[in-house]
Amino acid sequence: MTELSSNGVVAYDVEDGIAWVRFNRPDKRNCMSPTLNRDMLAVLESLEFRDDFGVLVLSGEGTAWSAGMDLKEYFRENEAKGLGATRAAQREAYGWWDRLRWYQKPTIAMVNGWCFGGGYGPLFSCDLAFAANEAQFGLSEINWGILPGGGASKVAAELLPFRKAMYHAMMGENLTGVQAAEWGLVNEALPLDQLKARVTEVAKVLLAKNPVALKATKDAVRRVREMTYDNAEDYLIRAQEAANSFDSEGRKEATRQFIDEKSYKPGLGAYDRTKTGA
Ligand code: COA
Repeated sequence: MTELSSNGVVAYDVEDGIAWVRFNRPDKRNCMSPTLNRDMLAVLESLEFRDDFGVLVLSGEGTAWSAGMDLKEYFRENEAKGLGATRAAQREAYGWWDRLRWYQKPTIAMVNGWCFGGGYGPLFSCDLAFAANEAQFGLSEINWGILPGGGASKVAAELLPFRKAMYHAMMGENLTGVQAAEWGLVNEALPLDQLKARVTEVAKVLLAKNPVALKATKDAVRRVREMTYDNAEDYLIRAQEAANSFDSEGRKEATRQFIDEKSYKPGLGAYDRTKTGA
């Protein structure tokens, strides 16, 4: 059953282990107002440690994923109130993107349509991203006279090769979902009518994995990007040892199923977690 955030601008369903969270301002192409940013943080926080789902998917109602920041409510109205209001609105927006970046559960951006500017923040926050071929991605900021802020330039520089990031940020031209996949902004693009089925398939693969290992892995991949090799080696040793304290049985059971029981091969798929629950 679909539930709504307190102001109705975020909709969500939890079904078969997947939390489907949606931007819900389709008439405004799901652009991010301060109200939406507050509601989204509240929804993410209320869901995060529930044990009835293991993967969160972020998508949008209607024709947009998100048309970026709300030019009226986020920019113009806060600028009129002064610097304090602008800074408060930034903290709210960046706050839920940060929260999503380090979310307890694996996250997937399911980009069903327009994705502009500030939308690159949550796009990058999600661990994986799948887009409709028909989706459009743009750093449109240059088209209305600002730089791609709110992390958008950083996202482009993180996900794209230098020349492509520069072209994308300076030219104000959109990429289709197909191009976004070729450029590495998303993992895959596929026809809109196949998008949800593919995302469900990916989510189900993740649901069968050890959740402690997934959280440790997704954090590790983000953290090591900014570390020297030696620091990364050290971090990874400690991260695994910390993970062991949350789940000491899973990897032992997995090793037993492979070495002793010979019931699966880790190179070809995940161990059976139902045998011990670990
Ligand atoms: N901020 C504020 N309002 C926005 C918005 C945004 N980022 N994006 C869309 N809207 C509003 C429009 O003003 C319009 O409102 P109205 O019905 O009250 O007139 C409504 O959403 C529908 O937008 P519209 O432009 O008519 O839809 P479209 O389907 O023809 O075009 C877009 C979709 C996304 C191409 C177009 O809305 C657009 O260019 N939006 C701005 C994208 C952008 O530059 N975002 C970067 C912000 S950092």
